[in-house]
Amino acid sequence: MFEVGELVKRRAFIAYILAPALSAIVLALIGFGGRDRRISGPLEKIPLPSPRYDSSLSIEYALKVRRSIREYENKPLTLDQVAQLAWAAQGITDKSYGFRTAPSAGATYPLEIYIVVKENGVAGLSEGVYHYLPREHELEVVKRGDYSRELMSACLDQEWVREAAINIVITAIYERTTDRYRERGKIRYVHMEVGHVGQNIYLQCVSLGLGCVVIGAFYNEEVKKILGVNEEPLYVIPVGVKKGGW
Ligand SMILES: Cc1cc2nc3c(=O)[nH]c(=O)nc-3n(C[C@H](O)[C@H](O)[C@H](O)COP(=O)(O)O)c2cc1C
Repeated sequence: MFEVGELVKRRAFIAYILAPALSAIVLALIGFGGRDRRISGPLEKIPLPSPRYDSSLSIEYALKVRRSIREYENKPLTLDQVAQLAWAAQGITDKSYGFRTAPSAGATYPLEIYIVVKENGVAGLSEGVYHYLPREHELEVVKRGDYSRELMSACLDQEWVREAAINIVITAIYERTTDRYRERGKIRYVHMEVGHVGQNIYLQCVSLGLGCVVIGAFYNEEVKKILGVNEEPLYVIPVGVKKGGW
């Protein structure tokens, strides 16, 4: 029979050393976890057209007319438009420091951008789930296939998810911010940041003649499963060509 001291030591060993080590190995094997997202295997990359830095539509006009749009033309987006939206969300605007279009607490950048493209949703881009790489201004293919119906179901059957040409999904890797700011990072900073990104996307949509709506009502686990990543989804944003223009 073990002595009590021996038993406590064994339990501590299992709880604090063995279990975390095993879970780290399992997570590494299935390609999840850590501060940086990891999806197993090298992913196919798609270079994006450079973003534009000017427009005939003023920021004041975009602010004035912006609305949440839930009805779209049955038309594909162009790759230029997808590139512009990804850049508006998280594009790098200062190469030396890596600063982006949206502010971030301590420049910790906890947010990731995914684009779920439905069949014929984007001219020249097949249906699938893509991840935006801000530094490279490229998309990487996470998986192929039309997930718009599953995504609609994950969003409590909100039809605009299925009808939109694409859905932008913003996820968070909280540790990037909580490592520095602890609890305040989790309950405040990361969620403030996603609001900045959402507004950037809204205004960029107006400028491109597109419409979007931010969606907060969804089943987290279902959205995670569709993306195939262990990150926390914060917004799903259907985007399509706005009926009748702005
Ligand atoms: C945090 C948040 C969550 C939202 N979730 C949803 C949603 O799940 N579905 C939806 O259709 N609209 C959603 N909206 C959009 C609001 O309904 C919309 O912003 C509001 O009605 C005001 O309209 P406007 O954006 O056109 O000014 C959400 C907005 C915010 C800020």
